[in-house]
Amino acid sequence: MSGPDDLVSAALRARERAYAPYSRFQVGAALRTEDGAVFAGCNVENAAFPEGTCAEAGAIAAMVMGGGRRIAEVVVAAEAKEPCTPCGGCRQKLREFGTAATTVRMVDAAGETVLLRRLGELLPDSFGPGSFMD
Ligand code: THU
Repeated sequence: MSGPDDLVSAALRARERAYAPYSRFQVGAALRTEDGAVFAGCNVENAAFPEGTCAEAGAIAAMVMGGGRRIAEVVVAAEAKEPCTPCGGCRQKLREFGTAATTVRMVDAAGETVLLRRLGELLPDSFGPGSFMD
C-alpha cells in the first residue's frame, strides 16, 4: 500500500542517508509518480561546494532511472527554522516532470507538515517542456 504518509516516511528515511558534512543540513525528498511509484533522494555534498546536489535532484534521478516521468506529489524533509522549500534550481527540475498542480509538502524531522504548496505557486509563469515552438 502507498498513501501520503508513506511518502513522508520515504523522505524521512532518505534524510537519514544525507551526506552533508559541510552544511550539516540534512535533507530528504520523496516523490510519487502519477502511476503511484515512490522514489527518494538525499542531498550529497562535496568538498568542492558547488558540486553538491540537492535531495530533490537525487529523487528525480532515481525516478528517471526507474522509468518514471510524471510527478504527482513531492515531500521535502528537513529540520530547519523555516520550512525547507526546494531551491530555485530544484523548482525548475521538478517542473520538468510535474505540473502546476503537483503538490510539494514540506515536513519537519518528525514528519509534521510545516508548509504545503503547489508547484505552480513555487514557480509561477514557469518555462517547461511545453514552452517550445512546435
Ligand atoms: N538542500 C536540499 O537538498 N534541498 C532543499 O530543498 C534545500 C537545500 C541542501 C543543499 C545543501 O546540501 C544543503 O541543503 C544546504 O543548502
